[in-house]
Amino acid sequence: YRTKRNLYELMHDIAQFYRQQLPLNIPAQSYLQQRGLSPEVIERFQIGFSPNQFGGLLAHFGKTQEDLKKLFDLGMLSRNDNRDAYDRFRNRIMFPIRDRRGRTIAFGGRVISDEKPKYLNSPESVTYHKGNELYGLFEALQANESPEMLLVVEGYMDVVALAQFGVDYAVAALGTATTPEQIQLAFRSTEQVVCCYDADRAGRAAAWRALENALPYLEDGRQLKFIFLPDGEDPDSFIRRYGKAGFEDYLNNAQSLSDFLFSNLSAQVDFSSKEGKTKLAALVAPLIKQIPGEILRLSLRQMLAQKLGIFDQSQLENLIPTQTENTGKTYKAPTV
Ligand code: UTP
Ligand code: MN
Ligand code: MN
Ligand code: MN
Ligand code: MN
Repeated sequence: YRTKRNLYELMHDIAQFYRQQLPLNIPAQSYLQQRGLSPEVIERFQIGFSPNQFGGLLAHFGKTQEDLKKLFDLGMLSRNDNRDAYDRFRNRIMFPIRDRRGRTIAFGGRVISDEKPKYLNSPESVTYHKGNELYGLFEALQANESPEMLLVVEGYMDVVALAQFGVDYAVAALGTATTPEQIQLAFRSTEQVVCCYDADRAGRAAAWRALENALPYLEDGRQLKFIFLPDGEDPDSFIRRYGKAGFEDYLNNAQSLSDFLFSNLSAQVDFSSKEGKTKLAALVAPLIKQIPGEILRLSLRQMLAQKLGIFDQSQLENLIPTQTENTGKTYKAPTV
């Protein structure tokens, strides 16, 4: 326990170190300025800079063998072929990733030129399990401890830009796939989760994955929605172009789960043919079955029945039993 607390303290000190470096580096400052980040939002997200040195952290935090071990355990150091330790993050804008309680548990670092990789992230460590965390959740809950909704976006810059424009309830899944754990985490703080990924092929695939992963957490009262931005935009570029009002217009027209579900499938399946109906049923039934919320499950089941032209109750019961696979709860069968 003592060691783990020390690790959190060390991560905090490292974040402070990176913050102190930012005003000392002119290219880093002009990069952030060019991206349009305000001093307030830089402060709010504790954004910093890792100097272009192989021994920056080493010199400050790696004096003893014990210190070195901690830095390795936290994923802050790498080793070269001669087994020499060096700083993992160099010459990057540093985004501290904080847990719900505000403890710094990892970092994401962005290059300030067009080197690759664009972002480097902390590896899994004692403090950081990537799939269990949402970047920006601490900051969002600081602004409002029970937000009406949480927006799930792809990246650091999306969260930060949205916050700067007053949309202070965005979190990032960091990587394309939003895990079941991240969805569950979001639903611990709000009843409404709105996915808003980049308007590209990867973003659309990520939205579908999020839908699949969210199904087992969709209790009644909870809502999952989707926003699809204009082609080529991400939330950062969109809000800078159209402002908060433009973004909120989009938000108000978010697609419901059922809209997205059926519209996405209609692109792959011809609902009017007999073959298409069979295929639709085969694709949708296993998804609907996972939903624990009875009202949502019932309404999706009815929508499916309508699209299939099923009016026979036992036929529908075969397709999607009234008993859910997820909770074992039952509800009174509707008359369709
Ligand atoms: P994007 O490529 O959409 O980048 O990746 P971005 O967030 O819009 O970044 P900017 O605007 O170019 O600065 C989305 C997220 O995927 C992860 C990061 O978390 C990033 O924010 N990612 C992306 C990586 O981890 N590594 C990469 O090399 C690229
Ligand atoms: Mn893990
Ligand atoms: Mn992207
Ligand atoms: Mn993006
Ligand atoms: Mn971007």
